[in-house]
Amino acid sequence: MATEDKWDNKGQYTEKRIMLYEQIFGKGYISAGGHRMTEQMCLPLQNLKKDSRVLDIGSGIGGPAFFLESQYDCSLTGVDLCGDIFTIATERTATKGSKVNFMCGDILNMDFASKSFDVIMSRDTLLHLSETKKRELFAKCIQWLDDNGEIVIGDYCRRPRDEEICESFKAYIIDRGYDLHEPLAYGKLLEDAGFKQVEAKDVSIEFLEMLETELERFRNNSHQLSENFTKDDYDSIEKNWLAKIEWVRSGDMRKGILFGRQE
Ligand SMILES: C[S@@+](CC[C@H](N)C(=O)[O-])C[C@H]1O[C@@H](n2cnc3c(N)ncnc32)[C@H](O)[C@@H]1O
Repeated sequence: MATEDKWDNKGQYTEKRIMLYEQIFGKGYISAGGHRMTEQMCLPLQNLKKDSRVLDIGSGIGGPAFFLESQYDCSLTGVDLCGDIFTIATERTATKGSKVNFMCGDILNMDFASKSFDVIMSRDTLLHLSETKKRELFAKCIQWLDDNGEIVIGDYCRRPRDEEICESFKAYIIDRGYDLHEPLAYGKLLEDAGFKQVEAKDVSIEFLEMLETELERFRNNSHQLSENFTKDDYDSIEKNWLAKIEWVRSGDMRKGILFGRQE
């Protein structure tokens, strides 16, 4: 068994935690904004059509990939580092009769032939990679994309690095091991890798609304949840959501959607 089969980012992605996340994010998702955020990420993409080849980096339990497959009939490859997550995604592929090809491993250790994909997407995953690793990955992505290929990234962001952020958000970033950028600075990383027509959108207002909706849904479902999870599980999710809402309201935490084209 490969070492990455055991990676769960210090308990962030245990099987139980994944099931709990899905209750708040919606079926198939372990990222804030669930299905609505996938739709928002698809807006700038022109290459999503029948048989187009799509790579989802950090594909999780498959929500975004299954959606793209059903919506556009495209051909999906999903890569995820966490073994438990990969297993859930693969099991769901079978039950859904889906053709998504999920692979388990670190995207930085993977290689694909040049021009293998028309679209590369990644959702709330690259926050796990340092800036150096992001640059390394973007250099590979531009090779993996076919002519006119598109990349879209949805990710947690922050206020510019030369501005102070509150202590609790700072501690959260350190605890999770995240590498966060301000959206425009994030877009610059894509430009540096050679992507053209780069757009860096700050979608924090929409993100805040999604977090508030998710918290409300989570609270409304708490009776049902308590059968499967302890009060501590419930409290930790609620506390985390309230903190995120406060960080986004203050402008410390932001949400970015980054787009670039291989020309
Ligand atoms: C917050 S989850 C998001 C999952 C999915 N994109 C979604 O929206 O539901 C982040 C995912 O990135 C994966 N991940 C983190 N680092 C990775 C790497 N180096 N290569 C591949 N996957 C990675 C994690 O295992 C996790 O499933």
